Amino acid sequence: MKQIVVSMTGASGAAYGLRLIQRLAAVGVKQHLLFSDAARVVLKQEVDLCLPDEPAQLVQALAKHLNISSELLKSYHLSDWFSPVASGSAGIRHMVVIPCSMGSLARIAGGISDNLLERAADVMLKERGHLILVPRETPLSSIHLEHMLKLSHMGVDMIPAMPGFYHRPESVDELVNFVVDRVMDHLDIDDGGSKRWGA
Ligand SMILES: Cc1cc2nc3c(=O)[nH]c(=O)nc-3n(C[C@H](O)[C@H](O)[C@H](O)COP(=O)(O)O)c2cc1C
Repeated sequence: MKQIVVSMTGASGAAYGLRLIQRLAAVGVKQHLLFSDAARVVLKQEVDLCLPDEPAQLVQALAKHLNISSELLKSYHLSDWFSPVASGSAGIRHMVVIPCSMGSLARIAGGISDNLLERAADVMLKERGHLILVPRETPLSSIHLEHMLKLSHMGVDMIPAMPGFYHRPESVDELVNFVVDRVMDHLDIDDGGSKRWGA
């Protein structure tokens, strides 16, 4: 079974992360969930979701909010260095940071493993696993762009939260799915939900 670390940080666009968790749950992917403190603030601001601190309670609250099963969801405190995502020896090789703040982007690019989320990303880099970042900021400074280029050269998939409009979206939902479709494609998971050009 594919295992994926899904991390949400404090950039705008909580809906992207929530939609990814929902779609991965629907196809039976085991998810290791990490939320930065700022992600919790954004979740409250953007979707009125208050996540409990305790990981088991967090999973229940999230599953209820998204109307999904909690069976394949695990969550960890950001100081839980004994969790599987803290070490390459656990064999987890896929991670998505969605949305990815410029702060987390910088710390990941700098190899600063100060919390479990940054450590998990660092593990992906050192193990040459599959790391996908969904950065969100505008405008972008040279610092942001340099970090993205550096990580891209290391094989990180940079999928910015930049929905296209050529599908003529009629709802925010479609715009959210546009970005999440690209992430699903890069994870090589086809849940049949992606809109495809020319189809
Ligand atoms: C409502 C809200 C929206 C924000 N949007 C963004 C954003 O789009 N991009 C970004 O880089 N930071 C954004 N921030 C600022 C980050 O949350 C802040 O830099 C934080 O320290 C990032 O921490 P983290 O990387 O640990 O999640 C936002 C903050 C709030 C409260």
